[in-house]
Amino acid sequence: MVNIAVLGFGTVGSGVVDVIEQNEKSIRRRVNEEIVVKYILDIRDFEDSPYKHLLTKNIDDILEDKEVSIVVEVMGGKEYAYTYTKRALLSGKHVVTSNKELVATHGAELLAIAQGKNVNYLFEASVGGGIPIIRPLNQCLAANEISEIYGILNGTTNYILTQMIKHGQRFEDALKDAQEKGYAERNPEADVEGHDACRKIAILSSLSFGFQVDAEKIHTEGITKITLQDVAYAEEIGSVIKLLGIGKKVGEKVFARVSPVIIPREHPLAGVENVFNAILVKGNAIGDVMFYGQGAGKMPTASAVVADIIDIVRNIDRNNRVMWDVSEEEVLVDIAQTNTAYFVRVKTEDKGAVFEQVNKNFKGCSFISIEDESVQDEVAFITPEKQEKELQQVLNDINNMPCVSTIYNVIRVMKE
Ligand code: HSE
Repeated sequence: MVNIAVLGFGTVGSGVVDVIEQNEKSIRRRVNEEIVVKYILDIRDFEDSPYKHLLTKNIDDILEDKEVSIVVEVMGGKEYAYTYTKRALLSGKHVVTSNKELVATHGAELLAIAQGKNVNYLFEASVGGGIPIIRPLNQCLAANEISEIYGILNGTTNYILTQMIKHGQRFEDALKDAQEKGYAERNPEADVEGHDACRKIAILSSLSFGFQVDAEKIHTEGITKITLQDVAYAEEIGSVIKLLGIGKKVGEKVFARVSPVIIPREHPLAGVENVFNAILVKGNAIGDVMFYGQGAGKMPTASAVVADIIDIVRNIDRNNRVMWDVSEEEVLVDIAQTNTAYFVRVKTEDKGAVFEQVNKNFKGCSFISIEDESVQDEVAFITPEKQEKELQQVLNDINNMPCVSTIYNVIRVMKE
């Protein structure tokens, strides 16, 4: 028998308890052990819960109980989650989590403690909800040098963009819709400003490239500025707008970014719609592999958490050697030095002057127009691929033209 304690009885925590109970027989067949939830830690009372007898408000009940070998941290946040996780690992208990914020910030330290104590710190549910991605990176793809990993890592924003693209819903209405359906985080800012996707690409990059990539330093843009006009321009060139998290090995460094990107309809990520997530991994032996599935939700996330518990039960006396280092030098390349192409929309009273200026600065620039009353006063174009620094300089010059009142939007374009 293996006793576990669940920290946090919210959506994911209750899902974990449900999965363990509902799938008891099939889990037992796989591990030949009974997995028993001995404690649930939560500050709330849950008077009517059938699990009321397991509830405690005192973490020491769990940490001092030698019979508990696995702690499941699904409480979220950084403060208590960090302290409890560290204490649990230091007291020789394995820890499983869905807490991407904690893994993205303190992953290197917690993994090192786990290794020192010969226990595991597993976090399959922290990226992509129910999609297996962490274990495949650690095990099935372990023979590969990973050169690039990118994808749609946030279900809420993918839902919002899908609503905008397919149903012509404005951003604000699509966000409201996502909140009513329970997709958005409590604070939608984490989703719509790209922070959630940023933490996930930080974890995937750290894992793939072997050193801690600091989420706070990753260039991150969300989707709040995307309008239906942008969507229509993208459609005009046979493309769609997606929020992509990207991590790439560049020499000894890492390029990482979260931003909306205009991608061709034929691209494998273009058809990933609604709350689905998809992650593309490029390995030097395997080539391209894509992982697709539900990136959020109670049961998909619980499924990933319980899979980690099962993995630990199978290897209860071993550390699985998942590690990444903290580098003393800056590991991220400066995004201003990297190449990209921009889609740009300029509001102007003199289109001719803007055409001239754009043509002067960019050879091979393509202009786009759509039939829409609301864009009569603007020029839209796609630049050739150039260093971001150079593109920004030209945009500044355009913005300073007396006939230009504003640059409505700038969105990166995937060219290859
Ligand atoms: N709010 C997140 C999403 C949940 O929409 O993908 C899973 O991290």
